[in-house]
Amino acid sequence: QKGGFETYMLKEIYEQPEAIRETLRGRISGNQIILPKLDGLDLSAIDRIYIVGCGTAYHVGIYGSTLLQRWLPISAISTPASEFRYGHPVVDEHTLCIYISQSGETADTLAALKMTNEMGAQSIAIANVLGSSISRLANVTLYTCAGPEVAVASTKAFTTQLVLITLLIIKIAEMMGRRPQEADAVLHDLKRMPEIVDDMLKKSDEVKEYAELLKDQHDAYFIGRQLDYVSVLEGALKLKEISYVHADAYYAGELKHGPIALIEQGTVVIAMATQPEVAAKTISNIEETMARGANVILITNKEQPALKFDRVMRIPEIHPTLTCIPVTILLQLLAYHTATEKGRDVDKPRNLAKSVTVE
Ligand code: F6R
Repeated sequence: QKGGFETYMLKEIYEQPEAIRETLRGRISGNQIILPKLDGLDLSAIDRIYIVGCGTAYHVGIYGSTLLQRWLPISAISTPASEFRYGHPVVDEHTLCIYISQSGETADTLAALKMTNEMGAQSIAIANVLGSSISRLANVTLYTCAGPEVAVASTKAFTTQLVLITLLIIKIAEMMGRRPQEADAVLHDLKRMPEIVDDMLKKSDEVKEYAELLKDQHDAYFIGRQLDYVSVLEGALKLKEISYVHADAYYAGELKHGPIALIEQGTVVIAMATQPEVAAKTISNIEETMARGANVILITNKEQPALKFDRVMRIPEIHPTLTCIPVTILLQLLAYHTATEKGRDVDKPRNLAKSVTVE
């Protein structure tokens, strides 16, 4: 069942090129996005979009709302379902809600969807499990074609959700008369994503060396800015969830407003710098941590000649909108190797269930 892999999680990490290929299949033709189910929606009067999910799915929401804010002149907000439900959100017939859930059964996500249905919003679900409860509640359900995800920690569900929500948001922008200028470039690199992910998986041994550094740590700090913050959140969640190393996620620019007090000789900082507008700023934040003795693991898409980093992992130079995907593969492997070095049960981390059907 594990297809020759030691654990389901490792199998699912390695299934990502295929899962992404399947999720893209039939959905891009030339530079057009094919999502015919959306034809039934009327987006002409939408002035507000919420993206709602829990845990890893919420991280996809942050990614999605960042793209929406860049590409559309409307309000786009991402909130965890358990907060959204009780936060008195402004929802009416001009609202579109996008719900993300691998299982399609997460209690808070379903309850939030019922609530916004009653308030008159239109809804789109992104789910992985065919026929799950969410598909009976949403106006439209789009499926990631990741196949069954057995390990508790989400891996292939996350990366396929990123792929699908990218297509969805470009399509929504198009339906609202504002196809993003960079759409063609993003689609071009999305089509290459299975090969790019495959190349990242080949770095597993290199990542394993960095896991050596982490395995005896009590804490690790993940930092980055803008879209890198999505990878930061996901990398920290994955590490704490399966290895039980305490991991915090910070915007790099927020370090000096408090968290930098935690950095001392030997503290491990995992830094992402793939966003051209802010990469130089992040690099200078990294230098500040190094000056205080941090051991930095840097993930970047560029040469960093100004600095002598001991530990750098490179991802290819793809469109900056999409760097979260290859970066996350490296962070999944980092969490995985750290957890197995520590002898953890990666498929079934303590205190967690695959599908959270209680509120
Ligand atoms: C983390 C993880 C969880 C789930 C969350 C939502 O690795 O797997 O955070 O993402 O419980 O689950 P779904 O997507 O099934 O609603």
